[in-house]
Amino acid sequence: EIENKVEALLGKMTLEEKLGQMNQLSPWDFNELAGKVRKGEVGSILNYTDSALVNKIQRVAVEESRLGIPLLVSRDVIHGYKTIFPIPLGQAATFNPQIVERGARIAAVEASADGIRWTFAPMIDISRDPRWGRIAESCGEDPYLTSVMGTAMIKGFQGSSLNSPTSMAACAKHFVAYGASEGGKDYNSTFVPERVLRNVYLPPFKAAVDAGCATFMTSFNDNDGVPGTANKFVLKDILRDEWKFDGMVVTDWASAAEMINHGFCADGKDAAEKSVNAGVDMDMVSETFIKNLKRSLEENVVSMQAIDNAVRNILRLKFRMGLFDNPYIATPQRVKYAEEHLKAAKEAVEQSVILLKNSNGTLPLTDNVRTIAVVGPMADAPYEQLGTWVFDGEKEHTVTPLKAIKEMYGDKVNVIFEPALAYSRDKDRSGIVKAVSAARRADAVIVFVGEESILSGEAHSLANLDLQGAQSELIKSLSAVGKPLVTVVMAGRQLTIGKEVEASDAVLYSFHPGTMGGPAIADILFGKVNPSAKTPVTFPRMTGQLPMYYAHNNTGRPANPTEMLIDEIPVEAGQTSVGCRSFYLDAGDTPLFPFGYGLSYTTFEYSNLKLASDMLTVGGELLVTVDLKNTGRYDGVEVVQLYIQDKIGSVTRPVKELKAFRRVALKAGESTVVSFSLLVSELAFWGYDMTYGVEPGDFRLWVGTSSAEGLSADFTVAAR
Ligand code: IFM
Repeated sequence: EIENKVEALLGKMTLEEKLGQMNQLSPWDFNELAGKVRKGEVGSILNYTDSALVNKIQRVAVEESRLGIPLLVSRDVIHGYKTIFPIPLGQAATFNPQIVERGARIAAVEASADGIRWTFAPMIDISRDPRWGRIAESCGEDPYLTSVMGTAMIKGFQGSSLNSPTSMAACAKHFVAYGASEGGKDYNSTFVPERVLRNVYLPPFKAAVDAGCATFMTSFNDNDGVPGTANKFVLKDILRDEWKFDGMVVTDWASAAEMINHGFCADGKDAAEKSVNAGVDMDMVSETFIKNLKRSLEENVVSMQAIDNAVRNILRLKFRMGLFDNPYIATPQRVKYAEEHLKAAKEAVEQSVILLKNSNGTLPLTDNVRTIAVVGPMADAPYEQLGTWVFDGEKEHTVTPLKAIKEMYGDKVNVIFEPALAYSRDKDRSGIVKAVSAARRADAVIVFVGEESILSGEAHSLANLDLQGAQSELIKSLSAVGKPLVTVVMAGRQLTIGKEVEASDAVLYSFHPGTMGGPAIADILFGKVNPSAKTPVTFPRMTGQLPMYYAHNNTGRPANPTEMLIDEIPVEAGQTSVGCRSFYLDAGDTPLFPFGYGLSYTTFEYSNLKLASDMLTVGGELLVTVDLKNTGRYDGVEVVQLYIQDKIGSVTRPVKELKAFRRVALKAGESTVVSFSLLVSELAFWGYDMTYGVEPGDFRLWVGTSSAEGLSADFTVAAR
């Protein structure tokens, strides 16, 4: 029925009106915008967040333009609208798709109340280099985890039906390989060959299509010389022909026109032609389509069919979203910062804060701790804990750790607050003396360090991932006092914090936790909540190890853990005295923390790994069980992870790949049997001849607490 409506409307449209639908604007002047909308020159707008204004401009589209086609109103609602959830990287650390879906649902409910019905999320770029500031907005390095989390976000944003007034169309971005930007520098070129594209970078996007994601966004990077906005191979051959995507594709901000800077297009007309011929439907703000495509059509460089197809995709979405029937926002409900939204945001933080170290049970703080020194630039920085992409989050509604500790635990502990540094990059060391004096007077010290929101996100790449300013010195000085030292890191990425981990008794990594960061962290510190998060990325020891990810292929000369490092090599050693292995002389081969790592206040013991059968067929199913026991004193949740390795492939295969995970809650002393069932077809990959399939042969499987530990078993997939 929708297709008939689309065709009927398309049949009535002039070329100008068609090009108008393909045009998205980010307007600042209402009257100027209204003039264009009235003439049918605009299909979508971004960045209007006042519901009255949204209704006003929608009225112009619906009641004053010739065909009355409603506008699609969009915004970057990435990890919350008003109630800000942890940055997506933090959300990925929960390994809990339900909580991630709930966060996206809440974002949609709050944003749609202001008329926003299309969000540019989820960002599902595989991100293996934390120098890249946009890693904050990603779900990390792993294709499987990213697919699961991206799917959860799409379900949450879009709700049960796209045409519900509280649904937002999701946008899978950035298509494709943007996360592989060379050197982690934003917008940089990428060089991802087709097989890696298909095995690593594309799976989350395929999962997005399968989840019914309404839209896709092209990427800024050129991959092997072809800018994302003109990449016909991925936009048409893969997205449309292979995956049968019938949603809408938008460019990134001005990325069509930017192909001129790339040296890929001669001018705006060339850019519009290359975009549309590659399969792009809508031009975000560069206006190259509306200005040029009429001429391109006359010159037969672009066909009417290409334009009609783009307009079909746009109209189909508008019909699916029910915009023709319900273009206006009803009187906004009181949904922003609703109590249940704040509660859900707090729960998301509780599950996203990773316990990286806990020597001698420093955490949770015991009743013997009567006075605590709360120190550091991130302890009371309401805006800075929100993270990147929070146009709409408000610091007035943000609860910082300092505030939460005082309000929630003020009757238990005395708090001495010394920020020591005004902000993360502060190099003025004078405040450190006061912090040290506070530490001396306290029974325990909690130091909040990291990086402000502005240091990660789009265009905020860093070449050095050490703590900024004098933060490292602050930790060193506090450590020298000798009181139990808990370091809490708030950041948009994994930082190189080896020295600081060493100097601390306990370390919590909260990423940017959002509105409810404070209360959740306070409950973790005082033991009301037991941490359960796991690293969604590998933490390198130093920046020079990058890119670093667990699912790498093996070399012909794998690293040897007993290899001599730089300080162990005798001065008189000859050139060949170091074994010929793949590692860094000064950093070895291991990360600071591996992917999937995270401690709990309790301990878990794995035993009795069993496979129902170790001989399988390609069409079969792998049934795995393992016993898990909570052997500690606290109730807790363990994220049980299942990895596999395809031992011999037609091309080299990753040393390990995450294939499944499960959050398991166990009371102290309790045990359970955790089971997984994996279809053998889930072991498929794109092999030497670029076909997708399972290659029979020997496999290894691990079930355990991180990518670096686990019980293992072998199995064989038999050739038919
Ligand atoms: O959605 C974003 C995109 O991720 C980066 N450039 C701008 C877009 C719209 O704000």
